Amino acid sequence: MVRLEAIRLEQVRKTFGTVAANDGVHLDLQFGEVLALLGENGSGKTTLMNMLSGIYQPDGGAIYVRGQRAQIRSPRDARRLGVGMVHQHFKLVDSFTALENIVLGPGGGTLRAARAKIEAMCGEFGFPFRPDQRVRDMSVGEKQTVEIQKLLYRGADILILDEPTAVLTPQESAVLFAMLRRLRDSGQAVIIITHKLSEVLEISDRVTVLRRGRSVATVPTAETNAARLTELMVGRPVDLKISRPACPQAPELLRIQQLTVKNEEGYALRDVSFSLAGGEILGVAGIAGCGQKELCETIAGLQKAESGGILFDGQDILGHSPADIIRRGISMSFIPEDRLGMGLVAPMNIIDNMLLKTFRHARGPLLRRAAARAMAQKIIAELEIATPGPHTPVRQLSGGNVQKVLLGREIESNPRLLITAYPVRGLDTHTSFAIYDLLNRQKQNGVGILFIGEDLDVLLELCDRVLVLCRGECMGIVDARQTTKEELGLMMTGSRLQQAQRGKGAAE
Ligand SMILES: Nc1ncnc2c1ncn2[C@@H]1O[C@H](COP(=O)(O)OP(=O)(O)OP(=O)(O)O)[C@@H](O)[C@H]1O
Ligand SMILES: [Mg+2]
Repeated sequence: MVRLEAIRLEQVRKTFGTVAANDGVHLDLQFGEVLALLGENGSGKTTLMNMLSGIYQPDGGAIYVRGQRAQIRSPRDARRLGVGMVHQHFKLVDSFTALENIVLGPGGGTLRAARAKIEAMCGEFGFPFRPDQRVRDMSVGEKQTVEIQKLLYRGADILILDEPTAVLTPQESAVLFAMLRRLRDSGQAVIIITHKLSEVLEISDRVTVLRRGRSVATVPTAETNAARLTELMVGRPVDLKISRPACPQAPELLRIQQLTVKNEEGYALRDVSFSLAGGEILGVAGIAGCGQKELCETIAGLQKAESGGILFDGQDILGHSPADIIRRGISMSFIPEDRLGMGLVAPMNIIDNMLLKTFRHARGPLLRRAAARAMAQKIIAELEIATPGPHTPVRQLSGGNVQKVLLGREIESNPRLLITAYPVRGLDTHTSFAIYDLLNRQKQNGVGILFIGEDLDVLLELCDRVLVLCRGECMGIVDARQTTKEELGLMMTGSRLQQAQRGKGAAE
């Protein structure tokens, strides 16, 4: 099959002050293919794609679209060239319907004409289309679908998706990938950015790897694997094994007793009981939205419970506010799923962001500052944060590096209990393993860790025990060394532990 070239980049360069975000990048994209763009956090992926979508102008090099040299000076230029990008933060209007959002803006036409056209388009690609549904009532996956439909409606046949799966459940990602395959098979060109190597291997035809702003390789997906891709990204072989140090069990730290939490729809958690010791990582597995968020937030004092008990070192903290919990001398850190607005201030530099959370008790402003600077430097080194230095405003960091600052700060503030929901979302492979190491080190220091996870392999390798939630109920708690993915899967879909074990026995 003869493929037509959609995009070609030659020697593209972009600098921000002293940072060369892109430096001599080559890339080509054909119609009828999905190209994965892979690279560590801060390697320049978003910057490069922003030049294709008209947000930034290159400082050097050339961009060709459909074989023609192109100057993309604005998002409008990009649209005219058929290039559309779905950004990580959606740009839809919440109070509008799907149809209104798609048609909104210059050149959208009338709603009546558009409805028929979009219906036909969705029919052709086999996409779901619910024109009258309001965006605020949609799941993240549905919103993303509307973003893609909007681009297609505006004539884009070159689609760029920046970490679309970072916010999706595995089920929603599967739906997205089915859509992308249909688009590819109908001749569209797609670039996808994702940090999940399994996704790169599943969806892409070729992979272009960026390292420190340079394109270091482009390989056919069928001819590579996770280890080789990681080596290309990092520049040296990397051990992709998670260790599970055995720790002498410290006494019980946290005991949850028959915790029941209600929300608008009914029960968010029902009769959940477990205990967590210092020096232990307890994983929580479950399909998204089956009570994980409520569990974390109730323990952290951010949500009210209907009934039950939360004992920290024997004291009942249920119903106490976060400030109250701190006043009682209980040190816990909570890294929630939704990390924006989680106490990082974008215009402030990394050191000042450390100061926000910790060192309140250090004597004197100079000592506080020195301690905060030391912490900033330690985190920058340990998590390899791509930044000119600790004085850089957080706003100027890449998405993943912002997250590293937050994670590093919360983990290094030496809590006794650490609650963390999906900590490696948006982080590159290499950094994800650095985070697992940090968690293990905390565990070895006697910290009790509640780890809400989604990747079953990681839950099985990292955690000591795994609690499985299904629709707000605890289906059982298993020893991570003994259980299997199948058993976890059965429990996640509603089998209690004993049933799951019987089911597994029958299958064997
Ligand atoms: N507006 C800006 N001002 C200053 N520096 C910037 C700006 N935008 C990006 N950078 C820097 O450029 C580099 C590349 O950032 P970019 O966002 O392209 O990385 P990325 O590969 O998308 O990373 P991630 O996987 O974390 O999203 C980083 O060092 C970042 O700090
Ligand atoms: Mg990015």
